[in-house]
Amino acid sequence: MNENDTERMLAFLKELRYRPTDTPELADLILINTCSIRDKAEQKVYSTAGRYKRLKKRKPELLIGISGCVAQQKGGELLKRMPYVDLVIGTHNIHRLTELLKKVREEKTRVVSTELYNSIDSKEFPTPEVEGIKAYVSIMRGCDNYCTYCIVPYVRGREVSRPARDVVEDIRRLVDRGVKEVTLLGQNVNSYCGDVSFPELLRMVCRVDGIERVRFVTSHPKDISEELIYLFGEEDKLARSMHLPIQAGSDRVLERMRRRYTVSEYLNKVELLRRLYEDMSISTDIIVGFPGETEEDFEKTMKVVKEVEFDSIFSFKYSPRPGTEAATYKDQLPDDVKQRRLEVLQALQKEITLKKNRLLVGKTMKVLVEGESKLDKTELTGRTTCNRVVNFPGDKGLTGSMVDVTITDAYANSLRGEL
Ligand code: 5AD
Ligand code: SF4
Repeated sequence: MNENDTERMLAFLKELRYRPTDTPELADLILINTCSIRDKAEQKVYSTAGRYKRLKKRKPELLIGISGCVAQQKGGELLKRMPYVDLVIGTHNIHRLTELLKKVREEKTRVVSTELYNSIDSKEFPTPEVEGIKAYVSIMRGCDNYCTYCIVPYVRGREVSRPARDVVEDIRRLVDRGVKEVTLLGQNVNSYCGDVSFPELLRMVCRVDGIERVRFVTSHPKDISEELIYLFGEEDKLARSMHLPIQAGSDRVLERMRRRYTVSEYLNKVELLRRLYEDMSISTDIIVGFPGETEEDFEKTMKVVKEVEFDSIFSFKYSPRPGTEAATYKDQLPDDVKQRRLEVLQALQKEITLKKNRLLVGKTMKVLVEGESKLDKTELTGRTTCNRVVNFPGDKGLTGSMVDVTITDAYANSLRGEL
């Protein structure tokens, strides 16, 4: 989500003839795009900004801006806390970036813009500036679910969908720039509610000439329809992978998280997906140490993880977010308990991922080639339909094409293979 916001900002900045640089010392403008999902992400903002403050001392004309969820939440407070910051721009104001920057430059003032809107202006979503063959396209904004631990509804506002034709138009433009794989983005894509249903939007996107593969994130387990599940059997371009955050394996915890599904409802959906498509990969998000999570609750999460054997897991220690309901719960757990649970869970998943990766050795899989491998220029890197990274020797002219690769080795985070 944040990466896509950055790409949208790059599209606007291009109008003012800014170009990206990897060297902060050369920059005329540094925009820090922030995340407030957990406290650790939020704290990074202050340390990162502190580093750039020094650059500004040497080069006073350097402009520094803060965008994203922390900007949305803290607004003008950031200007007070960091006197060297020129611009604070919230999550709904990205399309005003050029206008605000001009104001900062011409009027030599500091600007804060954090209004939230209940509708989407098509100007807000320029075609993102991307490099390479993969792109993210936002199909909606915001979230109405109010899970009790989560800051997103407060910093990204109400759920609003983009019209399908705008989404398809963006994707056509991305294809013209060489994109082959598109990931449709939303906090909860299954409640996409534009002029067509989400499955219909997926069909339209799969029909765009030049697109080879289509993915989407994130799906809320309570909203996955059977129509969507059956679509994987109808649309060849739809990648066989699904990110389906379970968050916890105990019904009691799920209820206090306000997730609105039970573990058995979740498991039924996974079971149907796997029964229909044997190559379907399922990844998930898990929070450990939610307030009041007992050892028994945590064991239930471990049991589900063993049972489902997820292809991969993103796991986090619960982090109380000011303003959310769960932050006010009295039964917060100490960090050492959270840390231990996180380590135990991650050790279990490491074994499962490796075991599942090893089962792929000997199989020949379709890989969409993304380009040269970063570690070894004689190798190519790409992903399988089930979203695993595969490295293999090959000519970089194959970038952007779908090739058959036989898997020869499996590691914790990637596979090796040969054409
Ligand atoms: N603490 C820890 N993890 C969180 N997530 C969301 N809010 C919090 C929080 N307060 C996790 C959820 C979500 C992922 C994007 O981040 O697992 O799916
Ligand atoms: Fe946050 Fe996702 Fe829940 Fe929305 S559905 S409140 S984004 S965890």
